[in-house]
Amino acid sequence: MADPDDISSNPSGNSTFQEIVEARLSRRSVIRGGTVVAAAGFIGATAGVGSAAAAPAPAPKGRGKGGRGLLGFQAVPPSTDDKIKVPAGYTAEVLIPWGTPLSSRGPAWKKDASNTAADQALQVGSHHDGMSFFPLGAGPLGSRQGLLVLNHEYVDQVLLFPDGDAQITKAKVDKALAAHGVTVAKVAQVKGRWQLVDSKYNRRVTGSTPVTFSGPVGPAHPALKANTKPMGTLNNCSNGQTPWGTYLACEENWNSYFGATDSSWKPTAEQARYGVSGAGGGYKWHQADPRFDLAANPNEINRFGWVVEIDPFSPGSTPVKRTALGRIKHEGATVTESRGRVVVYTGDDQDGEYVYKFVGSAPWKALRALRKNPLDHGTLYVAKFNDNGSGQWLPLKHGTGPLTKANGWADQADVLLRTRQAADAVGATKLDRPEWVAVHPDNKDVYLTLTNGSGWDNKVNPRKPNPYGHIVRWRERRGDNTATSFEWDIFLLAGDPAYDPQVTLAPEDVFGSPDGIGFDRDGRLWIQTDVSNSTQNRPDRGHDNIGNNQMLAADPRTGEIRRFLVGPRGCEITGFAVAPDQRTMFVNVQHPGEATTFWQAAPTPQNPNAVSSWPDHDPAGRPRSATVVIRRKDGGVIGA
Ligand code: FEO
Ligand code: CA
Ligand code: CA
Repeated sequence: MADPDDISSNPSGNSTFQEIVEARLSRRSVIRGGTVVAAAGFIGATAGVGSAAAAPAPAPKGRGKGGRGLLGFQAVPPSTDDKIKVPAGYTAEVLIPWGTPLSSRGPAWKKDASNTAADQALQVGSHHDGMSFFPLGAGPLGSRQGLLVLNHEYVDQVLLFPDGDAQITKAKVDKALAAHGVTVAKVAQVKGRWQLVDSKYNRRVTGSTPVTFSGPVGPAHPALKANTKPMGTLNNCSNGQTPWGTYLACEENWNSYFGATDSSWKPTAEQARYGVSGAGGGYKWHQADPRFDLAANPNEINRFGWVVEIDPFSPGSTPVKRTALGRIKHEGATVTESRGRVVVYTGDDQDGEYVYKFVGSAPWKALRALRKNPLDHGTLYVAKFNDNGSGQWLPLKHGTGPLTKANGWADQADVLLRTRQAADAVGATKLDRPEWVAVHPDNKDVYLTLTNGSGWDNKVNPRKPNPYGHIVRWRERRGDNTATSFEWDIFLLAGDPAYDPQVTLAPEDVFGSPDGIGFDRDGRLWIQTDVSNSTQNRPDRGHDNIGNNQMLAADPRTGEIRRFLVGPRGCEITGFAVAPDQRTMFVNVQHPGEATTFWQAAPTPQNPNAVSSWPDHDPAGRPRSATVVIRRKDGGVIGA
């Protein structure tokens, strides 16, 4: 999201990862071709590839022309324009901006923000984020129509209401809740152009939709007893897609929505660990709706911080919070399979937090045959990175290690409700804001974006602080993603060599704050950026050569990076999905027009377009998050 953490918050504790990185960089690694390459590193060694290459093996399929690698497009220069830019020969068309009615009979978007909560609940939500495409139909048909399922991470209350957010009322809270959550939208090529179409599947899940719980923290758990029935999902950042055809929405900065009207209210140790405060995070909902008042309704907050499973093909189904995956500020839930078991990687996006993985207890097909959900049966682990390039996955399992009754851990539900504290107890390694995870489609190497960090005890990270971020990758033992040990390395350091000589990106490829990340089927690694609007484009922050937030593609075999897309002003680029034939890519533009220091401008109720008017460019309108459809004019594979 728009950086509540930026790089300034520094939770105290046992951080060693930056020391580890520095030790490895100084002792074992060389920097080459935009990547930091282990001189005798794990990837070369385990893959049988020489040390001169950063390349995991086997080589991905679908190479570009002439064996030059995976990237075949002309790089897009950095830009500060209020436009979306894509390479020559590509098109970018806006699809389903915030407020689009999900039915042709639904309430029309009102550009003065006067749509009601009831209207908003029938329209596409705000602040588009993680997204998946579910094909409808087999073969080529499934690349021409499908369900686009996307998260709506948060709201900008200045833009959401005609009179802004100076006063918050219950009606405003209701509209804000309706703008959060998830959209399920059928999209199809109609006369060659992608459009939203009417469908029985079109659906909104919002902050008020009934939900239920499964796993060790079940629906009857006392910690979940609150003043209303369980409802809603909030701050849905990144996402996941299961092999059985469901969507995973993750709850990230859920603490921000809660506050206390009683000034004597104090957080518990567990709440403090999640950043819960009586003052709240600026939404002020607790002043108008007792549901979000920590003093009046103390357990409501325990219903947030989970991964939520939604079946897009069952419009009447109840979303289920899968508690076995832990309670953190889940950035995403990247699903892969190994030995038939499901493996889910999930970062906890805050400076100094951890990366986790869930491993199913049995092959997912066998569990489903027994009518058991594969996400309810397994073990949650947290990562420990050692300075010799090895790593371990430490189980967060009641009765194991320090997580015992004698140490105050009641049961597995207690471990999961206090996941951060359990990870502290087992000695996990703190990271610089762990965001998205991507798993290579062929060799199953795992890539993790560390968007930026303060470097508060940074003895060994090349940057202290680390304002640009980097990407870490690891290979699980024997390439088995269920393994409990791994070998890791740094894939690349983001940034600008004009300001940091350790950065080996070419001047035309500079970028900062990698956030969204994912592979396409050919093995192109797509990287999306979220440089904070307090930093974007500012020379005094070393960001004047980088431009607006953007999306790049990398060839992990060569380390080559190329800028593919630049977004409009004030936005971040986050969330993407590729149709099975790879000839359509959907990309989300989030929070265009957000207050931006570089332009010394902020939207107001009188002038919502102060920073950006994208995508409508209507003087009487306002900026809107939107999905963008990227295609090649010649109909070719995106990126090739
Ligand atoms: Fe929602 Fe960590 O970005
Ligand atoms: Ca981010
Ligand atoms: Ca993000």
